[in-house]
Amino acid sequence: MSKEREGSSLGIKTVVVPAAGMGTRFLPATKTVPKELLPVVDTPGIELIAEEAASVGATRLAVITAPKKQEVMRHFDEFPELVETLSARGKDEQVAKVVRASQLIHPVSIEQKKPLGLGQAVGLAEGVLDEDEDFFAVMLPDDIVLPATAMEKMANVRAECGGSVLCAFEVPREQTYNYGVFDVEDSENPDVKKVVGMVEKPDPEDAPSNLVATGRYLLDRKIFDALRRIKPGKGGELQLTDAIELLIQEGEPVHVVVHEGKRHDLGNPGGYIPANVDFGLRDPKYGPALYQSIKKILSEYEAEQGIQQ
Ligand code: G1P
Repeated sequence: MSKEREGSSLGIKTVVVPAAGMGTRFLPATKTVPKELLPVVDTPGIELIAEEAASVGATRLAVITAPKKQEVMRHFDEFPELVETLSARGKDEQVAKVVRASQLIHPVSIEQKKPLGLGQAVGLAEGVLDEDEDFFAVMLPDDIVLPATAMEKMANVRAECGGSVLCAFEVPREQTYNYGVFDVEDSENPDVKKVVGMVEKPDPEDAPSNLVATGRYLLDRKIFDALRRIKPGKGGELQLTDAIELLIQEGEPVHVVVHEGKRHDLGNPGGYIPANVDFGLRDPKYGPALYQSIKKILSEYEAEQGIQQ
């Protein structure tokens, strides 16, 4: 794949990746290593996102970074000396791993000076879009959504219904306080729902449903205007959810595609570890031995804890 490639038939050119968070749930690792560079098996989360973005035909990755997190962008450099050393030693497989990120997509960095919320972060991307980009994607690097075809389905809904299209995932009601939650109406297609309201991290008893936003968005360009008009919301931050809710109230079409596949949350160790196990088990090199190790660890743990099978 080349970075010069034109956008695909899905029409997605730019993928915005908010990566300015402090990664507090990963301290102490994140004192020096940005959360987005922590690996799933051997590949940093930011490269998995770049790969997903490229797979839907996007050509530009607009990474929102914090002033002290520029290492995230360094991951897309070409590392010629390392490539030369590895090539001289005949390590072609490793060379391919080094150059891969730099060949996937064209990365652009946008600095978010202060952590004022996801809404503010996404708003900063307006300046990098081309004039003819009526919509763009947002992929939150904490969320791994599998299979990556979710975005394709969303683009098809956007082509049919216009407006903005998000990815929804069903969670137990008691977990809704962690997410943006949708109020929906059925459409003709059982996988697609019309969104009539959206609320950020409500108390479970106030949640309009148990369909929540997982980190994939196709947003109409009108979102930038809405982002300029919202006030700080949950946590005192400018919330993307509140700008989407504003668009809905103003009659703009917003739909969700209900994701039936898998989702991993790389944003905290409790989700990051299972993601590594899942990807690791499917890795041809590490999978078979990992499977045996995990079975052993589990049976030792069960014996220790007196868990009956
Ligand atoms: C963000 C969004 C939330 C969404 C979630 C998905 O929250 O604000 O609406 O449901 O991502 O992962 P965060 O997890 O950054 O607190």
